[in-house]
Amino acid sequence: MGARLLCLGLLTALFGYYIYSPLPEELAQPGTVMFASAALRALGHLSEAADVLGLMHYMEVLRLFTVVELVPATSDENVTVTEAEFSSIPVRLYLPRRAPGGLRRAVLYFHGGGWCLGDAGMHGYDLMARRISNELNAVVVSVNYRLAPPHHFPVQFEDVYSVTKFFLQSKVLSQYGVDPARVCVAGDSAGGNLAAAVAQQLLEDPEVRTRLRAQVLIYPALQALDLDLPSYRDNAHKPVLPRSLMVRFWSEYFSSEPALREAMASNSHVPPEAAGLLQFVNWSLWLPEDVRGAHRPSSPAWGSEELGRRHPGLLDVRASPLLARQARLRGLPPALVLTCEHDVLRDDGLMYVARLRAAGVPVTHHHARDGFHGAMTFLAWPLELALGHRLLDTCLGWLQDNL
Ligand SMILES: *[C@@H]1O[C@H](CO)[C@@H](O)[C@H](O)[C@H]1NC(C)=O
Ligand SMILES: *[C@@H]1O[C@H](CO)[C@@H](O)[C@H](O)[C@H]1NC(C)=O
Repeated sequence: MGARLLCLGLLTALFGYYIYSPLPEELAQPGTVMFASAALRALGHLSEAADVLGLMHYMEVLRLFTVVELVPATSDENVTVTEAEFSSIPVRLYLPRRAPGGLRRAVLYFHGGGWCLGDAGMHGYDLMARRISNELNAVVVSVNYRLAPPHHFPVQFEDVYSVTKFFLQSKVLSQYGVDPARVCVAGDSAGGNLAAAVAQQLLEDPEVRTRLRAQVLIYPALQALDLDLPSYRDNAHKPVLPRSLMVRFWSEYFSSEPALREAMASNSHVPPEAAGLLQFVNWSLWLPEDVRGAHRPSSPAWGSEELGRRHPGLLDVRASPLLARQARLRGLPPALVLTCEHDVLRDDGLMYVARLRAAGVPVTHHHARDGFHGAMTFLAWPLELALGHRLLDTCLGWLQDNL
């Protein structure tokens, strides 16, 4: 009896520990957010333990979250859904069933998950792609690029870039009945990073003649140089994406070496030769005053040259689109940038908005004051939020008018 009571007490305490996370007051449906946040934190601790014990890599355990969310590629009354390969890279393809009435639009979608997790077949992403395909009468190509570990930068970028180039060929566009003037890239989080990088790279590619019509960047990660922005400080412990996990995602994108992760955790990973690039992520320069608030800029603690040599990706514009020179940004297609207030990546998005506008790129910026990172994938039970549907509706509305 005593043992049972003790067990019950321990379980309750453990449950309380995971479920209790202080939430910002503006968040609606706090129960659902707490549930998701608790599940992720519990899985995070499990991953940590398995990693320390040498049983499995941290990310392999976290990937269980992706696996339980997978749904098969099944067609419905409006959309034909199939698995295919473009340029040897797996994609999930969504083709609208209704009569095209002319050439169609197309959306190349890159899912989020910190370059380590996620899948086009996760329930949230599958629902999102179906709605885009059905409501815009668009072909949606949702890309299953390779993940870290074992694959590090630039593999993720190269995979989505190859698919994009493959799809933009005239013969492929016409095979799917797509209008070459109405193709866009889109992605959330790490997928927003990839979408921004692809849009930039295409401008400099002499082999591609088709130009993108638009880019949709949903709470994107855009730079790895300064992991001490005001948004990182304000939101270090907010639901779904704490700072520690974002640091882990960034470091895993480049390498599984603990030395890089430790340097990034203390924001002392930038090699001295990057001094000239800091202007592009200087938040005293690029963030609006009300966002800077009372924060004081910190002077960078330089990392070792050795770290820079071992991880050249740190300074690569294909990993950090915010490091692009102003001239590279000119000529980019119109952008929708969606940011959330309670998100470590908020300021990456805000700075890109400011830099794109300074370069003359038309930008629609939607800032969700009640938003947190990842909210747009909360589209189905048990992880369903009105906020998720609202953000998706915002994207659909913008695409309706701009694609
Ligand atoms: C099919 O499209 C119609 C009209 O947009 C919509 O009302 C219906 O819910 C869709 N069906 C599915 C399975 O999504
Ligand atoms: C960032 O910009 C501010 C304001 O222009 C400037 O004073 C500061 O030296 C810059 N910091 C870096 C690291 O470039």
